[in-house]
Amino acid sequence: MADHQARSGGDERPSGIPAIRWEEPPEGPVLVLLDQTRLPVEEVELVCTDAPALVEAIRSLAVRGAPLLGIAGAYGVALAAARGFDVPEAAQALEAARPTAVNLSVGVRRALAAHEAELARSGEPAAAAGAALAAARALHREDAEASARMAAHGLALLDGLLPGGGHRVLTHCNTGALVSGGEGTAFAVALAAHREGRLRRLWVDETRPLLQGARLTAYEAARNGMAYTLLTDNAAGSLFAAGEVDAVLIGADRIAADGSVANKVGSYPLAVLARHHQVPFIVVAPLTTVDMATADGAAIEVEQRAGFEVTEVMAPQAQVAGAGGGIPVAPLGTQAYNPAFDVTPPELVTAIVTEEGVVSPVTREALAGMCAAATG
Ligand code: MRU
Repeated sequence: MADHQARSGGDERPSGIPAIRWEEPPEGPVLVLLDQTRLPVEEVELVCTDAPALVEAIRSLAVRGAPLLGIAGAYGVALAAARGFDVPEAAQALEAARPTAVNLSVGVRRALAAHEAELARSGEPAAAAGAALAAARALHREDAEASARMAAHGLALLDGLLPGGGHRVLTHCNTGALVSGGEGTAFAVALAAHREGRLRRLWVDETRPLLQGARLTAYEAARNGMAYTLLTDNAAGSLFAAGEVDAVLIGADRIAADGSVANKVGSYPLAVLARHHQVPFIVVAPLTTVDMATADGAAIEVEQRAGFEVTEVMAPQAQVAGAGGGIPVAPLGTQAYNPAFDVTPPELVTAIVTEEGVVSPVTREALAGMCAAATG
C-alpha cells in the first residue's frame, strides 16, 4: 500500500532533497519517497508499506534514476522482510519493475543475499530482516560516498580537459541528489564546478517525454543557485553549432563490458553531436552501474514505455485527462515509439568517471581493469 503525505523533512544532506528514507513508526516500518512525478509543482512524499507499492512507484517513476533505484530496491527487500511478506517473491517483483538500470537488480540482490545468509545462519526472521535493512543502509551510505568521489574525479577531469575554466556544460535527464544517496553523478560534477566558481553555465535538456531535465534538473540547479538554462532537446544542435558547449556530462543506467552506455533516450544523439563538434562527452556513474555480465551495447535491454507518454504531455498534476492522465498533443489513436533509453557506443564516449577514477579511452580492457582494482 502507498499513501501520499505532505513532506515532513528528515534529510541531512546539504542539498536538502529527501529522495528516500526508512522510517519505523509504531504501525510498522515504511519506505518514504519524495514523489518525483509531482516535482517541481509540489514536494509530496509517498509512503510505501509493502513491495507492490514500491514496484508501482518504480514503474511510475515516482522513484527513479539508476543509483536510487538500487537503493530503493534494497530497502524494498528489507520492507518485505520487516513486514513478514514473502521475501524472494518481493525481490523478484522489485527486480523486474524496470529492466535497464542494472543498479536495481544489484540493490535487490544484495539485500536478498544478506537476508538469506542471516536466515540460514540464525533461522530468525527478525534477524534476517535486520540484515536486509543493514545491507540497504550500507548501499545507501556507499552511494553517497561514491557520489562525492565521482564529483572530485569528474571535476579534475573537466579542469584538465578545459584549462580555461568557466565551463559550459550540457546535461541530459536528471542525475543529481534526486537519484542518489549523495549529490548524484553527472550533476554532482557540475555542482562541484559551481562550488569552485568554475561553472559558467549548465545547459539543461528538457528531456522529453517525461521532462526529467525541466522538472527535476532545473529544480536541483535552482535550489543550488547554479547558472542554468533550459533548452528543448532538439535545440542542442544549434547550441553546439554556436560554440556554446564545452563538455557534455551525463549519467548511465547500465554500462556494458565493452563500455557501451545506456542512458536516457536522447543521450546518443548528444554523443554524435559532441563528436562532430569535438566536444568531450563524459559519462559519470558509480561502479554499481557497470555490468561486466552484459557483453556489449546490443545485449542491454532497453525499456519500452507506454505510447501515451509521447502522445500526451505528462505535466505534473495535469488537469486535462488523456488516456494516461496527461494533456493530449496528438490525434487519438496515434502510435508512438517510446524507448526510455538509448545506447551510446564506447567510441563516442570520451571518458567514464566512477568513484574509482577515470577510464579514457574507453575500452573493454580499461573498464575491466578498473572493476578488478575496485574489488581488490
Ligand atoms: O527513466 P529515468 O528517469 O529513471 O532515467 C534516468 C536516467 O536516465 C539517468 O540519466 C540515469 O539513471 C543516471 S542517474 C545517475
